[in-house]
Amino acid sequence: MAQRIAARALDATKVYGRGETAVTALDKLTIEFAQGAFTAIMGPSGSGKSTLMHCQAGLDTLTSGQVFVGDQDLTKLDDDALTVLRRDRLGFVFQAYNLVPTLTAIENITLPRTLAGGEMDGTWLDKIIDTVRLRDRLNHRPSELSGGQQQRVAVARALAGKPDIVFADEPTGNLDSKGGSEILGFMKEAVEELGQTIVMVSHDPVAASYANTVVFLNDGQVVDSVDKPTPRKLLDRMKRIGD
Ligand SMILES: Nc1ncnc2c1ncn2[C@@H]1O[C@H](COP(=O)(O)OP(=O)(O)OP(=O)(O)O)[C@@H](O)[C@H]1O
Ligand SMILES: [Mg+2]
Repeated sequence: MAQRIAARALDATKVYGRGETAVTALDKLTIEFAQGAFTAIMGPSGSGKSTLMHCQAGLDTLTSGQVFVGDQDLTKLDDDALTVLRRDRLGFVFQAYNLVPTLTAIENITLPRTLAGGEMDGTWLDKIIDTVRLRDRLNHRPSELSGGQQQRVAVARALAGKPDIVFADEPTGNLDSKGGSEILGFMKEAVEELGQTIVMVSHDPVAASYANTVVFLNDGQVVDSVDKPTPRKLLDRMKRIGD
């Protein structure tokens, strides 16, 4: 059976700057992200992981090539249409949590749906809140939460509206290993039980091993991929690529 594709990049090239200082962050990169799968992106620092994620999610534009979410070519959309697509169909988790400081945890979690004017699935919301263990912190503002708790709010917010795809850049980078494994376990559960599609950047082979597939980038290109990854397999590949 053909696997459906949630998002893809085709000959994606991103050049920052011009002339002698130009940096090619993505170099005619082609990749597909399967629907209902948890894909991790690994690779050395500067290999283009964040750039790929930002361009794939319509947060930055390519120099040439195309990026698609479903059948929609993002390079054909104007800023307003991109904003709507991001709001209605994508979820984000970044290392800097981007929480709204004046809103409580629960208000931050439900904000994207409130803005979109959409209905919230209460059962799903309850499940998320319990899994990320935020039930007793819902009325706290970000400044009253620990870093790990803030990150859990950010993950809950990304998943709350059941977006087509969640993009996560180092979502467990600031967490201890227990906090990290809870978040990763939760993301895996969202993929396995609810068909969520997740694309996650990580340096950490243990974190990346929660994914179904790990794709390796180097110098702005896909150089390798590992299905059914284990931390040992990933460490082995990382050594070969020179991470
Ligand atoms: N705004 C920018 N202006 C100029 N160069 C940039 C910009 N953003 C990224 N780059 C360059 O593009 C390349 C790829 O950067 P990117 O942030 O995608 O790497 P990364 O794989 O996410 O690295 P890390 O693991 O360190 O987060 C790097 O050489 C980086 O210096
Ligand atoms: Mg990065």
